[in-house]
Amino acid sequence: MSEAVELVGKDTAELDEAFARIQTDVDALFDALLPLPDDTRRPLVEAMRYSAMDGGKRVRPLLLVATAEMLGVAREPALRAACAVEAIHVYSLIHDDLPCMDDDDLRRGKPTLHKAFDEATAVLAGDSLHALAFEILTDEETSTDPFTRAELTRTLATASGMNGMAGGQVMDMAADSATYDLPTITRLQQLKTGALLAASVEMGAILGKLQPEGRTSLRAYARDVGLAFQIADDLLDVEGDEETVGKAVGKDSEQGKQTFVTLMGIEGARNQARALMDQAAGHLAHYGSEASLLIALARFIVERDK
Ligand code: IPE
Ligand code: IPE
Ligand code: MG
Ligand code: MG
Ligand code: MG
Repeated sequence: MSEAVELVGKDTAELDEAFARIQTDVDALFDALLPLPDDTRRPLVEAMRYSAMDGGKRVRPLLLVATAEMLGVAREPALRAACAVEAIHVYSLIHDDLPCMDDDDLRRGKPTLHKAFDEATAVLAGDSLHALAFEILTDEETSTDPFTRAELTRTLATASGMNGMAGGQVMDMAADSATYDLPTITRLQQLKTGALLAASVEMGAILGKLQPEGRTSLRAYARDVGLAFQIADDLLDVEGDEETVGKAVGKDSEQGKQTFVTLMGIEGARNQARALMDQAAGHLAHYGSEASLLIALARFIVERDK
């Protein structure tokens, strides 16, 4: 383990506090953004609130806010951008759980949205959360600078669509019948999961007005963390406990999905995730103690049990 990870990784109190704060803040902002209408749209908004609020680790919001904070950005705009990323993430989970995709019954420790409501409402709640993300980013309250708003919007859009999450999801759907080698699995995971995590860091840098040339080390950190995150998810699917994880486990092998674990074995995958965590921390070494939260977060992402 690198010195950087060892030193600041010990500071779990700082990380616990940051998680508690982001969870409260994200819930409060979704509450404000999703008032219940007194008309026939009410079940749609109830469904959006059911999935978006009161659950999830909020790793993407914390990545964004921690990056922004390191660069001296005020918390309020960072939180709004963080909610936009989380809205896209929640929409992706709602659709991922549908019978036409992973057909799951449990998410964040409660019934999946299509089980608690119905499939049509789940599809529409996902669509509406997707739209909400861009409503948030294009609002002047997120940034008074139109260029910043456009850059945030473009970054999140790219990470969500065919060159990001949705592109990775379609490769993942094919992964039960196709045979993928390691580079292809890596590409799949980078799109499916890595893109949104990388966008979270990038959006923090955009709010921090860091020019693209200055983003190299943050991008390298985000790429390693993104890959490590999905390896950890694949490991949890094999070794995790359903109650702690809050979703069904054993699904990947049941569906014959190829993952890092099927290709590298449990130990190989874990070693790979830890090597990526070390590498991620190394990329931020020049930020010194300012980067302690991001480094602690990289460690959490690899060692988590949920
Ligand atoms: C799960 O994401 C889906 C993947 C992209 C692997 P998270 O593990 O971040 O899920 P929540 O948000 O905490 O529920
Ligand atoms: C889904 O990956 C990632 C998304 C883009 C939603 P998984 O199918 O592995 O996520 P879980 O395990 O259901 O959370
Ligand atoms: Mg899936
Ligand atoms: Mg799934
Ligand atoms: Mg999974």
